Amino acid sequence: MKHNLGIVGFGGMGGWHQRHAFESDVVSLAGIYDIKEERRKAAEEMGIHAYPTLEALLADEKIDIVTIATPNDSHKEIAIKALAAGKNVISEKPVTLDTADLQEMIDASKKYGKIFSVHQNRRWDIDFLMTKRLYDSKEIGKLFNIESRIHGSRGIPGDWRGKKEHGGGMLYDWGVHLIDQALQVVSDSRVAEVFCRFDHLTNKEVDDGFRMDMIFENGVKYLVEVGTYNFISMPRFYILGEMGSAIVRDWQDKCEVVRCKEWYQDNVTPVVTAAGLTKTMAPRDSLTTETYYIDRPKSDVHDYYRNFCKAIEGKEEQIVKHGEMMRVMKLIEAGFESVEKNMPVKVSI
Ligand SMILES: NC(=O)c1ccc[n+]([C@@H]2O[C@H](COP(=O)([O-])OP(=O)(O)OC[C@H]3O[C@@H](n4cnc5c(N)ncnc54)[C@H](O)[C@@H]3O)[C@@H](O)[C@H]2O)c1
Repeated sequence: MKHNLGIVGFGGMGGWHQRHAFESDVVSLAGIYDIKEERRKAAEEMGIHAYPTLEALLADEKIDIVTIATPNDSHKEIAIKALAAGKNVISEKPVTLDTADLQEMIDASKKYGKIFSVHQNRRWDIDFLMTKRLYDSKEIGKLFNIESRIHGSRGIPGDWRGKKEHGGGMLYDWGVHLIDQALQVVSDSRVAEVFCRFDHLTNKEVDDGFRMDMIFENGVKYLVEVGTYNFISMPRFYILGEMGSAIVRDWQDKCEVVRCKEWYQDNVTPVVTAAGLTKTMAPRDSLTTETYYIDRPKSDVHDYYRNFCKAIEGKEEQIVKHGEMMRVMKLIEAGFESVEKNMPVKVSI
């Protein structure tokens, strides 16, 4: 039997959840609520029931899952109301804006005995899954440096994402995905240090790009970087291990791995530079390295909803857990603190 879904916020991402529900094997859409009449009308024109108020949606007993796809600053209030009304809640990311608010949301889910999670849908991204496989398999040794970048060239969107009061900025927007992925990749250690710097090329109020260096207790250095003014993009992932390197150039690209077979090599042909010859920087060839591609993992983002429904039925533990949500939020707070102090901050997260 399918679970009945109500969507709050019928904009870009609300539309994604609606399309998902239309195709889903585990949920069916009962209806939507949006604060804007034009969005409610747009839903009705598509044959989707639009509730006139949030209260009306929450009062509908057949709805057992509420997905919140409104601007970031409104998630908390809607989530707590929905949990209090006896609904299981999926919040879009970032789940909210700070750890104190998140704690209130977690407390409400416990108080009302309902499942509450955040839509970290980028845990199903292939580029990330290939990086995680490299970390876990140790096939190029222990990874000691991971760089995860998202680059665009269109600036920060001109909507609520550019406004501080709505929880705008790229650290909240893309950063939350990249930080969540980092914690999934380096799953065997805590973060010991955070150093974050913001850019304000197209927006003075919120960051329109950032670099956040995390150093884990086990020594792994992990960079997350978002740019919205990069007319030449860096690779999606650049990875260094003790016995090789790997690169994922783009979202859909393969993971190319160069593994070191022999560390030492006699008779290295030096490379010519303007100022002279260098053997140290001479490229390797197939005598001492092998190049291969990691198989693309199978991945279906709709497994998020499948797992959420199983968690409601008590058959599976929810994939995106409260403790994980809290760690990501703590790291975002540490990022803001580091920007404010303009220095690295020590943490144990
Ligand atoms: N997981 C992802 O991949 C992903 C992708 C995009 C956006 N998001 C998240 O989804 C959320 C929505 O983003 P979006 O791009 O759809 O924004 P959007 O501006 O396109 O849509 C937001 C909608 O919410 C409505 N709204 C605003 N306040 C409301 C309220 N109090 N009650 C009901 N409706 C309200 C607006 O009228 C609008 O239609 C954000 O939290 C964003 O970070 C997640």
